Amino acid sequence: MMAQCCRYWVLLGLFSMVMIGQGPVVASATEAAVLKPRVPADKIDEARTWINPFEATPENIDKGRALFHGKAFCVTCHGKEGKGLGDIPGLVGKLPRNFTDKIWQAARTDGELIWILKNGSPGTDMASFVPLVLTEEEAWHVLLYVRSFGQP
Ligand code: HEC
Repeated sequence: MMAQCCRYWVLLGLFSMVMIGQGPVVASATEAAVLKPRVPADKIDEARTWINPFEATPENIDKGRALFHGKAFCVTCHGKEGKGLGDIPGLVGKLPRNFTDKIWQAARTDGELIWILKNGSPGTDMASFVPLVLTEEEAWHVLLYVRSFGQP
């Protein structure tokens, strides 16, 4: 009984060492995967011309916050703090997207993000929300809130 219990702890220790050892490698590999554009190549030039018609005022961000945590249920996958499921500190590229990752924020235009809200991210659990769940106007407000996660 005793021996079995100790073996368990040794295995757990080895497992943790392997996981910690691989941490940085996994993070950088995932980051590259995350930064890869999601909008298909033949659509991306047009998408990048789309500009958010709403300003990032506190009122507009609040409107987006209410939708994110409310009827658009983004919070169920992206988390209360926008870090993606699990909210694991320092884990870049955990899917669903970590919105506090400034490198990812800088890699995307607003136009690419609204394209995702209209079409979903092909081949992933990120579905399309416009027009079934959100109007286009509401989606732009949600994006103001998504952008606010990347602020200091
Ligand atoms: C069912 C879970 C789920 C819900 C609900 C969800 N998302 Fe996502 N979202 C994901 C996943 C998974 C990804 C990663 C997709 C990928 O890697 O391309 C993602 C990616 C994204 C991205 C990043 C795409 C990119 O270009 O990197 C944005 C922006 C986004 N979601 C916004 C939202 C917003 C806003 C809502 C609410 C309207 C929402 N998501 C609701 C799962 C979800």
